[in-house]
Amino acid sequence: MIRVEEVVSAKELKRAFSIRLRVFVREQGVPQEIELDRDDRTARHFLATVQGRAVGTARLVVKNGRAKIGRMAVLKSYRGKGVGKALLKRAVESARKKKVKMIYLHAQVPVIGFYEKMGFQCVGRLFMEAGIPHRKMVFSRPGEARG
Ligand SMILES: CC(C)(COP(=O)(O)OP(=O)(O)OC[C@H]1O[C@@H](n2cnc3c(N)ncnc32)[C@H](O)[C@@H]1OP(=O)(O)O)[C@@H](O)C(=O)NCCC(=O)NCCS
Repeated sequence: MIRVEEVVSAKELKRAFSIRLRVFVREQGVPQEIELDRDDRTARHFLATVQGRAVGTARLVVKNGRAKIGRMAVLKSYRGKGVGKALLKRAVESARKKKVKMIYLHAQVPVIGFYEKMGFQCVGRLFMEAGIPHRKMVFSRPGEARG
């Protein structure tokens, strides 16, 4: 069973960061010094567990009435099992509760289809971030978190 909880302790935050380290730094080659950033201090972090094992994470950063979902990461061996969907749904719900005017994210190009399934649409042109091609995507059904 997949559980998604908001991170409330330093221990849980450490587990979330360790997933990001494995996925973004070790697997994708993102420089470690930019993986953790200032937004981590103010973000809401989410941790997904399967049978007590921490397997996925995401964060939500709210600034100027806009909510940005980011650092979505699921351990490789747990992908394709609905963990990402559960995390994204939770992050969108959390953003909606804050009554923001926009929910958006920067999607790595190979996972655009994942976000589209959850109600996000691409806007604007392709750009590079951490050496990886991205598109900005906006949640297009603010009244509804699909999934
Ligand atoms: C992107 C990521 C978070 C998705 O998590 P996941 O747990 O594998 O996704 P889920 O199993 O919840 O998939 C949900 C749905 O999206 C689909 N999906 C998953 N990855 C997809 C992809 N790359 N392209 C298109 N559809 C995809 C699934 O088939 C599933 O569809 P269904 O609901 O019709 O069955 C995960 O692949 C990951 O951590 N990747 C590496 C890090 C990364 O790229 N993060 C995103 C940074 S923007």
